Amino acid sequence: MEKIVMKGGKPLCGKVKIGGAKNAALPLISSSILLDGECEFSNVPQLKDVETMCSLLKLMGAEFELKQHNLKIDASNINKTLAPYELVRTMRASILVLGPLLAKYKRASVSLPGGCAIGERPVNLHIEALRKLGAFVEVKNGYIETKAKKLKGEEIYFDIPTVTGTENVIMAATLADGVTTILNAAQEPEVVDLANFLNSCGAKIEGAGTKNIVIKGVSSLKANKVHNIIYDRIEAGTYMVLTCATKGDVEIENAPYQFLHAVVEKLKDVGASINVKKNGIRIKMKGKIKHTDIETMPYPGFPTDMQPQFTSLLSIADGSSVITETIFEKRFSHVPELTRMGANIKVSGNHAIIEGVDHLNGAPVTATDIRAAASLIVAGLAACGETVMFGVHHLDRGYENLEQKIRALSGSIRREKSE
Ligand code: EPU
Repeated sequence: MEKIVMKGGKPLCGKVKIGGAKNAALPLISSSILLDGECEFSNVPQLKDVETMCSLLKLMGAEFELKQHNLKIDASNINKTLAPYELVRTMRASILVLGPLLAKYKRASVSLPGGCAIGERPVNLHIEALRKLGAFVEVKNGYIETKAKKLKGEEIYFDIPTVTGTENVIMAATLADGVTTILNAAQEPEVVDLANFLNSCGAKIEGAGTKNIVIKGVSSLKANKVHNIIYDRIEAGTYMVLTCATKGDVEIENAPYQFLHAVVEKLKDVGASINVKKNGIRIKMKGKIKHTDIETMPYPGFPTDMQPQFTSLLSIADGSSVITETIFEKRFSHVPELTRMGANIKVSGNHAIIEGVDHLNGAPVTATDIRAAASLIVAGLAACGETVMFGVHHLDRGYENLEQKIRALSGSIRREKSE
């Protein structure tokens, strides 16, 4: 077990480089199941979740070569269509193999993901959509068992715009007969990255990035060129909040400004000065942090994956703020930890009512998911004194070299063994 030890109160200053997006890499790797022959990705983030997705495909028979941030995958010799509980329980995004396995191999057995720290997170919309495409799906002994003679294009309407649900349907529909239309699709940039990659392999997907996506099924897919994964908007946003909370001045190289409008607007509201550079964003913060209200929304709205980091930031703002979480029903697990550091936050239903305090005080804290961990890093680096964070494995699922990057910005942070 490990812990992270931080000494707060030092402004973060300098330059930091953002890596490839975790939530783009995971569906892209999974989509290699659909292809005939090898494909290659660049800008692959070195993260635990990416490792888990690779282990899952390896278990099925795929071959991998990973050098630095370049990944070659040949999934054409898959001989097992099983995603076992042992892997799925460590990463819910394993559900992303369901659509491509069914499309290419006409069967799949994927452990049903359970709830997690941030909510119940059912996958009923994935299952209903695959049934509509002609698959037989049954949930048995904790597994989603599915098979199909062939998949047929259909109209799929999502009650809620689901990100991985949209990605699963896109992947299933690329090799289906006929045309599939997804209505109320997720519009996240990671969905667009997946569609762009598949189109470069011969798929016919239109409208990704809008609410309506049309997929004309094709008979096979083959990679033609290396696909460069988009930059991680949540990693970039996290460094922006860190800069703001520590009253620093940081140039965030590769920050994808075009995907960060909602986050940038809120940082401007709290008083940050933000300049868009040729290759990223420079953010500076001086003086009092101002209060603001936030409501999480599907993209292009304010991302739920930035909510915990903003909770920490607003806990040291001047005045009161209200955060409304509309995506996940339990995504306030960082609040009791922040309270232990001196924050004044009351949770009522899906609202967190924050009365800004002058400063937070270092304390031992525990992270319960990736973004809760990021929020505690923000708090720890802004607080007076020493903060020790447990639950470090959550951080490693989504942030590459976080301590090294923060130390290069003059932050005081180190990892230690813990009993
Ligand atoms: N939902 C259902 N039924 C379904 C699917 C979703 O009710 O079948 C509900 C969920 O419970 C939630 C809402 O729909 O209330 C949206 O969930 P969505 O399906 O979009 O979430 P996801 O695809 O499981 C992805 C990201 C999450 C991110 C959410 C929301 C990946 C691999 N994961 O999850 O990322 O929070 O979209 O933007 O893309 C993270 O990186 O820390 C993370 C949790």
